[in-house]
Amino acid sequence: MPLGAFRFLDVPSHRDPRGLLGFVEGSRDIPFAIRRVYYICQVPPGTERGGHAHRRLEQLFIPLAGSFRMRLDDGETQHDLLLDSPTRALHLSPILWRELYDFSPGAACLILASEPYDEAEYIRDHETFLAATRASR
Ligand code: TYD
Repeated sequence: MPLGAFRFLDVPSHRDPRGLLGFVEGSRDIPFAIRRVYYICQVPPGTERGGHAHRRLEQLFIPLAGSFRMRLDDGETQHDLLLDSPTRALHLSPILWRELYDFSPGAACLILASEPYDEAEYIRDHETFLAATRASR
């Protein structure tokens, strides 16, 4: 995917009377090798998370339980997305400002990431982000 892009992706899954089992293989179901897994849960009502972009990181957000919203900004266009299905994941490429909000009670999101954690590749200042979007065009 190009920088600043996103897309929803249907997660392969198996549903039977015992419940839902979803699966993702790096470099097969998503175009990157999985180098890190983290999760967000127990978010207090009214809390906003994110407020940053990444210079290199690709991510797949899988909302395992409940729902939340994500505002995305590629420097030119804003999108407001609902993540509410464990079989509909959101793939983000780098250089995308994101804000996560409106978490439902009990919401839990699994994130598959293409790189180990590196604070140096975060962009936490919005002006720096806008400069990075201009440089990437
Ligand atoms: P941060 O990415 O700012 O959270 P959010 O995107 O939800 O706003 O991360 C919060 C803190 O957790 C920050 O101090 C860095 C730390 N952290 C790690 O140590 N490893 C990780 O893989 C992640 C995602 C965060």
